[in-house]
Amino acid sequence: MSTPAPRQLFVTTALPYANAAFHIGHIMEYIQADIWVRFQRMQGHEVHFVCADDAHGAPIMIAAEKAGVTPQEFVARIAAGRQQHLDGFQIGFDNWSSTDSPENHLLSQEIYRRLRDDADLITTKTINQFYDPVKEMFLADRYIKGTCPKCGAKDQYGDSCEVCGAVYAPTELIEPYSALTGAVPVMKASEHYFFRLSDAKCVDFLRQWALDDARLQPEVANKAREWLDVKEDGEGSSGLGDWDISRDAPYFGIEIPDAPGKYFYVWLDAPIGYLASLKNYFDRTGRDYDAFMADPTTEQYHFIGKDITYFHTLFWPAMLKFSGMKVPNNVFVHGFITVSGEKMSKSRGTGISPLRYLELGMNPEWLRYYIAAKLSAKVEDIDFNPDDFVARVNSDLIGKYINIASRAAGFITKRFDGAVATDWATASDVFLFNLRDVATQVSALYDHREYGKALRLIMEQADTVNAYVDANKPWELAKDPARTADLQEVCSRLLEAFRILTIYLKPVLPALATQVEALLNIAPLTWNDVDNPLPHGHVVNGYTHLMTRVEAKMLDALFEAPTAPVAAPTVVVTDGAITEHVATPLAPGFEPLAPEIKIDDFAKIDLRIAKIVACEAVEGSDKLLRLTLDAGEGRLRNVFSGIKSAYRPEDLTGKLTVMVANLAPRKMKFGISEGMVLAASAADVTAQPGIYVLEPGPGAVPGMRVR
Ligand code: 2FM
Ligand code: ZN
Repeated sequence: MSTPAPRQLFVTTALPYANAAFHIGHIMEYIQADIWVRFQRMQGHEVHFVCADDAHGAPIMIAAEKAGVTPQEFVARIAAGRQQHLDGFQIGFDNWSSTDSPENHLLSQEIYRRLRDDADLITTKTINQFYDPVKEMFLADRYIKGTCPKCGAKDQYGDSCEVCGAVYAPTELIEPYSALTGAVPVMKASEHYFFRLSDAKCVDFLRQWALDDARLQPEVANKAREWLDVKEDGEGSSGLGDWDISRDAPYFGIEIPDAPGKYFYVWLDAPIGYLASLKNYFDRTGRDYDAFMADPTTEQYHFIGKDITYFHTLFWPAMLKFSGMKVPNNVFVHGFITVSGEKMSKSRGTGISPLRYLELGMNPEWLRYYIAAKLSAKVEDIDFNPDDFVARVNSDLIGKYINIASRAAGFITKRFDGAVATDWATASDVFLFNLRDVATQVSALYDHREYGKALRLIMEQADTVNAYVDANKPWELAKDPARTADLQEVCSRLLEAFRILTIYLKPVLPALATQVEALLNIAPLTWNDVDNPLPHGHVVNGYTHLMTRVEAKMLDALFEAPTAPVAAPTVVVTDGAITEHVATPLAPGFEPLAPEIKIDDFAKIDLRIAKIVACEAVEGSDKLLRLTLDAGEGRLRNVFSGIKSAYRPEDLTGKLTVMVANLAPRKMKFGISEGMVLAASAADVTAQPGIYVLEPGPGAVPGMRVR
């Protein structure tokens, strides 16, 4: 196996918006990139792997305002929950920064100045836009509501109707109103700054960059071809319009130089955050950022989801090119992760909380392996299927791989004081030869992000190793004193095979590989070690248990079936005194009391003050709102509540309420609900409509118990 010349790589994943905790889609992307990074490092390449919070933009500014904190504080709270996930899933970023960092402010302004002064690619145009006279701010489409001009449905958003599916301009809405204040918006002119992407030099460059056959994935290149409007003969008009990169104050973002009151649109400074995070990391660790980025041999790669391809294959390369910066070598696009179809959604719902996975004590490497086994270089969605998860982990990882060590290591430690015998005749060594021989194929598959194929090839090799076990039956050799030398040879060969398989699996299973290195008493494995067998007489350590099987019931806990119908809870909160039972007729319409309880029963319910830090409609549900609650625990909770008919999300964001904090998490169709918000309603809401979320009196703070 030949060793490639060392390369220097700069790798990123997309920067997540700093307004919510990670979901499984983020974790999938990070696992995909992390495997690639670990693989490249095992090849001896220098890799710098960074990410950051995408902090800016109107939604975060508004959410922070409603939460009564500064946007910086709001972002910091979300950021505080990141490391737990990253450590939990063994995602080894070198740095996690924020797009609101000083480095990003400076770099964004510098790139802008170069685009304006050196490349002459910035222009201004006056545009008319809806403006909220109460809030005194321009309104993005999502903050304008009104009656659908096509079907007459009320309270539809400014760009499309959820009822009839019509797409329109916000100016077409009937009786438009601001979703922030309810005020009637007025049209107002404002000067906006544009990046002149339609300029011929941009179009020429993008055609050359994006349509280079060796670069983008075929599906991505096809999209780029459409966007760049390239005809069969390679000619075509530019389909690119100029890009509006400014937003008016108030806006949480970076000020545009020489343009008072104007800020960069969040998507301008977000990708620059990749560079800023690298710079922050290099400055902290005493490396030279400018030299690294100026070095023509430095390669730059971005892992992203398919929904943000446009920004990364058009705007971003053009921004870099015309500000004289290094352009990305490639953008690696993946699909979404879905959770198993019909069978799952009926019995177990759809949705996996990464935090819940970790809290249940499930092994993160099971998920890394399972996701890797599903991933390819295509832009296709992958599906998490619990039965498949259990089967793959148990049959591949435990049944095929771990079992090799458990069948061989015990004999070596007990019968030979841990010493391996590896002075075999090469003729009998065919299966190890074959095992080593696939190293080049496996490495090419990892390099091309064909992880599923790589793992299939590795498992085929594990099958041949297991066939060797079955053919040589070490447990029978162990019974025959005359065959002691054979036993040592067979088991040594198996440990060597296990060592090689561990190298192949190490990008996916880094913690397990570390355990194996300890078991085999060897230095951290690199790719070259495929050809460095355990030396004759090398002493391994005793076998310790490496990995347990997944149990189906763990998946049941992960996808716990709903225990109650999804509906607004009907509750009455008192000060805990037992209501006296009075045998008088009930007032008309009064809902009969629930059976009497003791004070101890009530004490079992842990009610806490919680702040609604974010609230949004749940796509596909006409009843539910998704609430992000801060109950003062240092983490945020996701709670679904059937109160959509009574509240707009923006009415609840920032409010305090009371939640049942010790309710067992419930798997609902749209995800896991980690508690319940208290709301009052009549028994018959059709007769007496209204749902009223409880709010504590002034002075209560998140985390206080309600007794
Ligand atoms: O789509 C998103 O989640 C964005 N926050 C991704 C930004 S990637 C990069 F440009 F910062
Ligand atoms: Zn409509």
